[in-house]
Amino acid sequence: RKPAGAPDKSLARPVTKVGIVGAGLMASQLALLFVRRLEVPVIMTDLDQERVDKGVAHVHAEIDKLAAKGRLDQDRVNRYKALISGDTTKAGMADVELVIEAVFEEMSVKQQVWAEVEAVVSPECVLASNTSSLSITQMASRLEHPERVVGLHFFNPVAVMPLLEVITGERTDEATLATAFAVGRQLKKTTVLCADSPSFIVNRLLGRFMSDMARIVDAGTPIDVADQGFAGIAPMPPFVLMGLVGPAIALHNNESLAAAFPDRFYVSPALRRVVEAGKRGYYTQVEGRTVLDPEVLALQ
Ligand code: 3HC
Repeated sequence: RKPAGAPDKSLARPVTKVGIVGAGLMASQLALLFVRRLEVPVIMTDLDQERVDKGVAHVHAEIDKLAAKGRLDQDRVNRYKALISGDTTKAGMADVELVIEAVFEEMSVKQQVWAEVEAVVSPECVLASNTSSLSITQMASRLEHPERVVGLHFFNPVAVMPLLEVITGERTDEATLATAFAVGRQLKKTTVLCADSPSFIVNRLLGRFMSDMARIVDAGTPIDVADQGFAGIAPMPPFVLMGLVGPAIALHNNESLAAAFPDRFYVSPALRRVVEAGKRGYYTQVEGRTVLDPEVLALQ
């Protein structure tokens, strides 16, 4: 289905409590954003207590950093911290109006998460995926109420990047889209409506850029990491950007795009080895300088 434009604002449902599935880095950034902008309780869940505690601690630490910069007074610090909670079950999500998931980029994992969430929440609760490339239609296909599933794709760093992609699945209804747009406005993001197509808008463009960068390096040309401006094409050097996104996400994005458009996307064998070796990217810090990681070069 082609997006037909912004939905009717009057159909938006209020969001007074938010559930987040996953307590990793993206999930923690989302929790902070929702607490700051919506000022509503946010419950984070993950598979074990250690991950939950780490996620909640990360949000608390980010709140403290904002306070140290003079951006939050003590009253807000206390209030925001009190709004964040964590759990290993989804029981606390029974009364939320919006759940956003930021778990591993694997269709079966996402489908499993939504099945578990659907068993707990009300039929109107909006289920939003922060997937960067997977199909919203397929993700919703096994649910009793697929019409309340939508994509809300945020960019890293979540606090700073202005864009929010709202992805409509084939069965996503107007009230769900209206709620997604209303939430985007409350979060002070620029919301754009996207059809459910591989990697949506930004990651499809970025994927091409990243896959060609990897192709150049694979062909033996090192890319100058010191070129911060990179001819104005990117706000940071491309492989530093890949480190920010995470090489596993970048690889996954390129694999999905190469599967959909084999003639246009390149999957770098070196990038695959970087991910398998658990590296954070192509570059590393040596004596305060960013340099091509010799261990990654050895992997090529
Ligand atoms: N968290 C929170 N705030 C951050 C931050 C972070 N990780 N990194 C930077 N900031 C804030 C700083 O506090 C600063 O805020 P202030 O001006 O209010 O003090 C502001 O961002 C600018 O930071 P700096 O001056 O330190 O540095 P830069 O001007 O170089 O900006 C940047 C840093 C915003 C990260 C910029 O380099 C940038 O835009 N990089 C590109 C990021 C990008 O393209 N992201 C999209 C990746 S794709 C994606 O996420 C999709 C996924 O599905 C793969």
